[in-house]
Amino acid sequence: MGNTKKPKIAVLGAGVIGSAICKCLVSEGYEVTATRRKLEKSKSLEKAGIRVIADNRLAAEEADLVLFTVKPFQVIPLVLEVSEGIRGKICISMAAALELSLLCKVLPDVKWVRGMTNTCAIVKKAFTVYTPSKSLSSEDLSMVEDLLHTMGLVEMVEERFMDPLTAMSGSGPAYIYTVIEALTYGGLRVGIPRDLACKAAASTAIGASELLLSADVHPAELRDQVATPGGTTIEGLYELEEAKIRTAFMRAISAATERGHQLAEQIRKQALQQITESMQPKE
Ligand SMILES: NC(=O)c1ccc[n+]([C@@H]2O[C@H](COP(=O)([O-])OP(=O)(O)OC[C@H]3O[C@@H](n4cnc5c(N)ncnc54)[C@H](OP(=O)(O)O)[C@@H]3O)[C@@H](O)[C@H]2O)c1
Repeated sequence: MGNTKKPKIAVLGAGVIGSAICKCLVSEGYEVTATRRKLEKSKSLEKAGIRVIADNRLAAEEADLVLFTVKPFQVIPLVLEVSEGIRGKICISMAAALELSLLCKVLPDVKWVRGMTNTCAIVKKAFTVYTPSKSLSSEDLSMVEDLLHTMGLVEMVEERFMDPLTAMSGSGPAYIYTVIEALTYGGLRVGIPRDLACKAAASTAIGASELLLSADVHPAELRDQVATPGGTTIEGLYELEEAKIRTAFMRAISAATERGHQLAEQIRKQALQQITESMQPKE
């Protein structure tokens, strides 16, 4: 962002993802106010220099840019709660399955962005994707990119990729931990001490990923560098193929994507009901 002044940020819903985002932002010099209802659970945020309050309206009013990091079904009620304080501002929803068109319908005079990150933001290694609505200027977009960059890698994508990417990279850490745990158990089976096995599995996952990203080749090419004829690796790979491991992962991503579509439908129905209720005259 060069010498441009950093926007004041409000993060509404400082749970797992919200807290990680707050800490990334504060470490890069942003002024951040976070909210949650159970303030007694916000000690680590306060220690990191983040102001934590329970008043969503105040946090939203005072901020230049607002992030929504509550659970998907909680976003629309929260948007309605803080609506007066966010008009005309850039607002980023980090919720799974919540469509940009719905956010724009609920509050059209907000510059909406739909984002998806992952828990690797805790160590500033997230893979974050986002889709902006048409109302953002190029200056707004660079503000959003700068902000999301504090958490790791960032890509702007078309919204049709958001549910599949939620299934892949948003949920991804859970799959990778399953792989690391499985490798660790494999190590235990052949007598490697638990800590050593886990360290070997996790470090190998980091190294292999960094090599792939830096080499810019197909993963199969790098796999072939390891699997030599008649060697040990091909025996391991043969067992994985027998277990249909690739089919299992492909099915996992399809199932998680389908669940995202179902959630989107439920959120849409619930939101339309909430909008109708909020427009009823109060008795
Ligand atoms: N976890 C992931 O791996 C992940 C990855 C990418 C995206 N996401 C998305 O990130 C969002 C948050 O997920 P999460 O896992 O971080 O959930 P979480 O840990 O439950 O965080 C949500 C937080 O919102 C707070 N909250 C709820 N209602 C509130 C309100 N009315 N006002 C202020 N704060 C409120 C809750 O704290 P109090 O109860 O104290 O209010 C809670 O700590 C979801 O929409 C999810 O789709 C999650």
